[in-house]
Amino acid sequence: MKTFTTHQMVELLRNNVIFKGADAAEKYSDEALEEVIRIIKISELKAGDIVFKQGNQGDSIVLLLRGEVAVYVSGGKGIEIHIAIIEENNFFGEMAIIDDTDRMASVRAASDCLLGTISIDDFWEYFYKHPMLAKNVLRGINQRLRDTDASYIERLAKEKEELIRFNRELERKVKEKAESLERSQKQLIQSEKMASLGQLVAGVAHEINTPVGIGVTVSSHLTQSTKKIISSFENNKMSKSDLTKYFSSTLETSELMLQHLLQTADLIKSFKMVSADQTAHERRKFNVKSYLEDIILSLRPKLKNKPHQITIDCDDDIEIDGYPGALAQIITNMVLNSLIHAFNEGDNGTIAIEVLKNASGIILKYRDDGKGIPEENIENIFEPFFTTKRGEGGTGLGMHIVYNTVTQILKGSISCESTLGQGISFFINLPAKLEN
Ligand SMILES: Nc1ncnc2c1ncn2[C@@H]1O[C@H](COP(=O)(O)OP(=O)(O)O)[C@@H](O)[C@H]1O
Ligand SMILES: [Mg+2]
Repeated sequence: MKTFTTHQMVELLRNNVIFKGADAAEKYSDEALEEVIRIIKISELKAGDIVFKQGNQGDSIVLLLRGEVAVYVSGGKGIEIHIAIIEENNFFGEMAIIDDTDRMASVRAASDCLLGTISIDDFWEYFYKHPMLAKNVLRGINQRLRDTDASYIERLAKEKEELIRFNRELERKVKEKAESLERSQKQLIQSEKMASLGQLVAGVAHEINTPVGIGVTVSSHLTQSTKKIISSFENNKMSKSDLTKYFSSTLETSELMLQHLLQTADLIKSFKMVSADQTAHERRKFNVKSYLEDIILSLRPKLKNKPHQITIDCDDDIEIDGYPGALAQIITNMVLNSLIHAFNEGDNGTIAIEVLKNASGIILKYRDDGKGIPEENIENIFEPFFTTKRGEGGTGLGMHIVYNTVTQILKGSISCESTLGQGISFFINLPAKLEN
């Protein structure tokens, strides 16, 4: 440890804020400072050494004769919060001489330091002999408070600035994320559309394959038998019974052909409808109740000889601006489904159509009291080609057409509820006026 002469020590002390007089009247005599030498304990610290720790008992005031120290507090979880740097020729730990409490902060040497420690008791004893000391202690504390305030404000401003920057960065990231999400969602919808289109095309091919295949078989059969009868006719070998046989088989074959061609034509008509071609519909404002009544009237041939009841519950004045043809399509498909799927031969069924106004337009409730569908089929009912009557005339396109018509042409929504054995309900929300 470096040793100092008395003179060197006196000069070191005189340079310290605590003994530095503001003017000649405040100047400490050499004797007064030599007295300090007797009560001060000198120590040397390396940069990083701890002077004292937060929570230690405060039993002394420390004069920083050489070097700098850093003051910090623990913010918990190992975080250190920097409070201040105390520069050479200042003092610290003065709170202990005033209020005898534990250290409120930790102090560590920020560079190699030379420290002088004075115990509380020695300090007060010295103080009573040299009350002038009070002035400098107070000055020092005052300066410390000001510095701390200033650095606190500076730090606050910096933190705020950082917070703003952080916020902006966060906003930018969130926006970026949202945009990429939107993009991938759009892609997903698009690929979903493409997939359902592909499914549709495959389905169309599959459905048409059977009737067309049968058509091909029977027509080649017809060609064969015709060639045969022509040749026996030309060779004068044709008997009457040959001709009768030919006639009856030809009639049968052409009936089969007609039947399957009609089925194909029907399928194609449905497929065309699936594409929900908007241009096929005429747009206008129409009265819902009277239009519904017209639709039911047009279904009368299908309802002939059936005891079912169809009721319409709708206020006279409800109008919507949209595509009436689309509504007809929807109701027709649903009624035909009720006739085919809900009711057995001889059943006395009820179909109830109810229309209510709501904030955005109308809600149309369609309900039959037929067989209903099992819970697990509800989610499939709008899928193309979902049918429980495959091979019995079912194509599974009816409800898909309804769905497309409601959502794409009328910009509404549709949902289905059913309890097996208790009928089926459809809820259709439609806007009162279509956006252009
Ligand atoms: N009103 C109804 N009652 C019971 N089941 C129904 C009703 N409407 C539709 N379904 C069921 O939904 C399936 C799909 O209907 P849809 O798409 O019109 O095809 P399809 O009538 O050609 O079978 C039907 O096969 C049937 O199982
Ligand atoms: Mg159907």
